[in-house]
Amino acid sequence: MATLGKDWWKTGVVYQIYPRSFQDSNGDGVGDLAGIESRLDHVAGLGADAIWISPFYPSPMADFGYDVSDYCDVDPLFGDLQAFDRTLAAAHARGLKVLLDLVPSHTSERHPWFLESRASRNNAKRDWYVWKDPAPDGSPPNNWLSEFGGPAWTFDETTGQYYLHIFLTEQPSLNWRNPAVRDAVLGAMRFWFDRGVDGFRVDAIENLVPDAELRDNPPNPDWIDTMGPARSLLGIHTQHRPEVFEYVAEMRRVAQSYEPEKLLIGEAYGTVEQLVRYYGPKLDCFHLPFNFLLIGAEWRPRNIAGVVETYEAALPDGAWPNWVMSNHDRSRSASRVGPEQARLAAMLLLTLRGTPTIYQGEELGMEDVAIPTDRVVDPWEKNVPGKGLGRDPVRTPIAWTGGPGAGFTTGEPWLPIDQRPQMRVDVQYCDEGSMLSLWRTMLALRRKEHALSLGDYRTLHLDDHVFCYERSHEGRRIAVALNFSAETQPLPVTGRSLLSTAPSAKHGDDDPLAPHEGRIIELA
Ligand code: NOJ
Repeated sequence: MATLGKDWWKTGVVYQIYPRSFQDSNGDGVGDLAGIESRLDHVAGLGADAIWISPFYPSPMADFGYDVSDYCDVDPLFGDLQAFDRTLAAAHARGLKVLLDLVPSHTSERHPWFLESRASRNNAKRDWYVWKDPAPDGSPPNNWLSEFGGPAWTFDETTGQYYLHIFLTEQPSLNWRNPAVRDAVLGAMRFWFDRGVDGFRVDAIENLVPDAELRDNPPNPDWIDTMGPARSLLGIHTQHRPEVFEYVAEMRRVAQSYEPEKLLIGEAYGTVEQLVRYYGPKLDCFHLPFNFLLIGAEWRPRNIAGVVETYEAALPDGAWPNWVMSNHDRSRSASRVGPEQARLAAMLLLTLRGTPTIYQGEELGMEDVAIPTDRVVDPWEKNVPGKGLGRDPVRTPIAWTGGPGAGFTTGEPWLPIDQRPQMRVDVQYCDEGSMLSLWRTMLALRRKEHALSLGDYRTLHLDDHVFCYERSHEGRRIAVALNFSAETQPLPVTGRSLLSTAPSAKHGDDDPLAPHEGRIIELA
């Protein structure tokens, strides 16, 4: 493949590592950096190009690392800076880029910045966070709600004001309108870039700059309680505010000041119009604002095709697309679509136009794991129990082998492990028909076929059961035919079969699509 240099991510595939659940090296039941280092061959062997590691910074772990108390260090739970440097070098030695998680919208309440800020009203860092007087009756300054339940404001006795936290009470929101805050966070980016990191996934960007006037959010007429309490209001004054783009552009300028330029991926949930704005008015914000549309889409061919076409049409000129099926916050794809369709979902993710992100365990077909009440640790589930909002089920450790601890830990794992043989890496590794083998084969084909990575996209056929599209590049045309149904379906194109999700099926090039089958076909 022609090398794209600084644009490596256009053909690249990102693999998300949730460090607590990848590999434990010291028997404390929680994964760590040395564990990641020891398992890099799995990721490189799979055929990924980059790893994104969810936060491993010092943190009280109220939100499992998304409450950062020092942006420029490693929590002892995960190792230290030397362990990080070793992991980075080991990844680079295998040709893997390394992306970290930047959490700019809030810190931990134990971050020294917040400790200073809350110490007194005239502290030099007071304005680093969002402080407001109570309403006349003593209640919070407005009606904003925390994403994880309860009001978005907590009263601080010492100074008699409320502070804003879009997430947990333990996650005070930084005030991005303050240039000193911006300098401090941009400085943290430089700290890691100077160490050799290749980019960042940037957390919760839609919440970076809430309304300066603190206007109340209006009620959401379509709210149902399984959306979580925060969605009972429309976040028009807390999310996707216009100022955010200026500040993301500042981040981009830091990324651009390096040679080669560093990659920035943004996390924002919203409508397709809201998502694509994060490319920036002059493509000067994120290289890739995460596209989560497939996570929310109903798994039927017409819906999926609709999502693909809507997104393709909404992309600004020159913007490069990307696709995500699963992450550490949302139900796993194999649970959403079912184990048979999970193979199809994998084929879709790897053959759409755009950079795919794989969430660890997706390559094994890992499913959500039911968590007994006494093992629940996610603060969201604890704050708003029983609504299916908790994220523990999607964060369970990988089963590398059988035996106690599943090769993940020699201790007691922090969350239960699904050790069914079909979920184990060692079992799947030796089985040509396994999900893992399918991912490896598909990624190898994608690497070889420029049409599948760089090619143009066109819908070829759509009915109630089958979605078929073409990817074409420099005269080479490849079709992907996906059978969403449990029945055999006619193959809508003719050509030579290159790969099927149904490994054991003996099919000729013209055979109909087997139930649940996805096929990649070379067109004449
Ligand atoms: C999005 C992260 O993915 C999620 O895990 C976290 O709880 C929130 N942002 C707050 O940082």
